[in-house]
Amino acid sequence: MTSNPTRRAVAVSVLLLAAVISFGGANPTATAASTPPLRDLAASRGLRVGAAINDAATLGIPAYADTLAREYSMGVSENAMKWGLIHPAPNTYDFADADAEVAFAEAHGMTMRGHNLAWWNQNPAWLTGGTFTHDQLVQILDDHINTVVGHYKGRIAEWDVVNEAVALDGSAQPNPWSNGIGNPAYIDQAFRTARAADPAAKLFYNDYAIEQPSQRFDAVYALVTGLVQRGVPIDGVGFQAHLGANTCDSSCVNGMLTNMLALHRLGLQVSITELDVSVVLPPTPASLTEQASMYAGVLKACLLAPNCHSFVTWGFTDAYSWIPSTLPGRGAALPFDESYQTKPAYDALAATLAKPPMAPTCGQFSTPAAAQAALSGNTVDGAPLLDANGDGVACNESAVTTTSTSSSPSTTPPAIATVAVPRFTG
Ligand code: XIL
Repeated sequence: MTSNPTRRAVAVSVLLLAAVISFGGANPTATAASTPPLRDLAASRGLRVGAAINDAATLGIPAYADTLAREYSMGVSENAMKWGLIHPAPNTYDFADADAEVAFAEAHGMTMRGHNLAWWNQNPAWLTGGTFTHDQLVQILDDHINTVVGHYKGRIAEWDVVNEAVALDGSAQPNPWSNGIGNPAYIDQAFRTARAADPAAKLFYNDYAIEQPSQRFDAVYALVTGLVQRGVPIDGVGFQAHLGANTCDSSCVNGMLTNMLALHRLGLQVSITELDVSVVLPPTPASLTEQASMYAGVLKACLLAPNCHSFVTWGFTDAYSWIPSTLPGRGAALPFDESYQTKPAYDALAATLAKPPMAPTCGQFSTPAAAQAALSGNTVDGAPLLDANGDGVACNESAVTTTSTSSSPSTTPPAIATVAVPRFTG
């Protein structure tokens, strides 16, 4: 399904699947696409809904292009902006595919995410095989970011500046930059250079397996707290969300929301950047139902978090997904099947988006007054949402257990309240 010659398996990113997998086996159920489409439903919730564009060639497939343009308001190049493709030789940039993808997005009223500017994977051989001094690497990284971000200046809403700087176990992930420039010096540099190259773009740190409270989330939280404390220009954290099908109940939604709110308290946005939910092949009605529950759960967390404005899946049709080649035996991870027919996951997304807007509902607000203002008029199950105890956490107050706030960022996530999501339970 994937055709790009520079692609490599990225097993690390999906090791976490084992923790959230359930199994099954029959044919996907095709249903009719929603009217209005996802992008219109999302717009009414203040959300951009996006999908990774497999490559420029797939845009020539009418069903692919039509579905993408109809349903999504945001795009991201699945590979075309990665170092290996866009910067194949030291003094050569190849913007052809990425330009085509950005042009498609613009022609269809979609904004773009840029992915990515510094990563351990999919780097060109001249970079990984070369020998460079510290100063040369600083120069190479600066030139790349200036050139690529500059090329798309004003046309990229969110850049993934640094991708996967933390290894699965929470330690630092080695890459050409960490080795040669130093860590976190290379991260600081990448963000500062990107900000200067396109001051209007929101700058993100992007990583996997941070969707639930965990040691790994703590490591990422510490990393971005350091950036904030050093005054490095970061705007948000991307939750990749490469998941396996399971049931996402209110504790699953709460876990995601807890992490999102911790970042909100640091002043950072969050985006869902690469969501897919794989199942064992062939899918069954049961596994597709669990998959739909996961899609809805991630979306609910994003809708409930006051700082989540982009919700992006890693592709949209099972015809083009990195999962089958990366995780043999698994697949069917996206909301449309291989024939561009909608799956239960699509229906779950549409139904969740179609619920009456209440955003922001649960959330950590900077001041009690802000919470009151935001929640004025909102009710959950007939009960008004108020920041009754004035602690800046506003939700269903009876369901909020504890909170602790701190005026200066610490390098561990605050003990955020268990925030109920009454709107989505039952
Ligand atoms: C994947 C692409 O989907 C594949 O086509 C490619 O072969 C490898 O990379 N985390 C990321 C993405 O940030 O860039 C990866 O994309 C998936 C994991």
